[in-house]
Amino acid sequence: MRKHIIAGNWKMNKNFSEADDLLNDLMEQLENVKLPRETQVIVCPPFPFLEMASDYANDSYFLVGAQNVSDKESGAYTGEVSAEMLASCEIDCCIVGHSERRSYYGETNAIVAAKVDQLLKHDLMPIMCCGEVLAEREANRQFDVVKSQIEEGLFHLSADDIKRVVIAYEPVWAIGTGRTATPEQAQEMHHYIRTLLAEKYGSAVADEISILYGGSCKPSNAKELFANPDVDGGLIGGASLKADDFMGIVTA
Ligand code: 13P
Repeated sequence: MRKHIIAGNWKMNKNFSEADDLLNDLMEQLENVKLPRETQVIVCPPFPFLEMASDYANDSYFLVGAQNVSDKESGAYTGEVSAEMLASCEIDCCIVGHSERRSYYGETNAIVAAKVDQLLKHDLMPIMCCGEVLAEREANRQFDVVKSQIEEGLFHLSADDIKRVVIAYEPVWAIGTGRTATPEQAQEMHHYIRTLLAEKYGSAVADEISILYGGSCKPSNAKELFANPDVDGGLIGGASLKADDFMGIVTA
């Protein structure tokens, strides 16, 4: 059975003491809920707070992820952080190909593919994001856009390796806008992604890969979104910054 995953992407928010407060609140709340075994909670804070999150995670029930990683192994790349460094600090996973990195920092599908390779090489789970912008959806090009992101970012992997990847569908027009995809739109795209995976790797492999939804996911709409057969959880931005909201989504 594939995992149900709720991952919080804090983006560039919180200072040290705010991060500590949020992690403390989350840990307390996680202690008081009984989650099914196939549910995995992930917290992705900014780099300076990864160690703190990792310390909390030792006593609690969540994994810690980074929000970015270098596509290079090591060397003279000022400001970059390698997959090996993350692995050596016991970080479990990492977001790659987020639309904010694609649009503001020029992260192409080829760079995403190289980052995925670095993460898998060092045994970290990539959370690979894909999704169309509004103009692409309005032109009914969303399937073509997502297809090339998935093919160029992931389809060089072996069947064994792609099973170690989590995919997050995040329609860019839904990120931080309050405009969520409808459950039907989410299911339609998630089903399309799983069909692509099945055509390339076979349905047994496709059925093992968790596909998360991201974009204005809140406690009030999470249940409806997650009720869809191909929606295996969420990648949460704004609502991951408050323990009550994030836990409202986790328990949905
Ligand atoms: P919001 O939940 O704030 O829309 O952000 C989604 C997102 O980008 C998660 O990676």
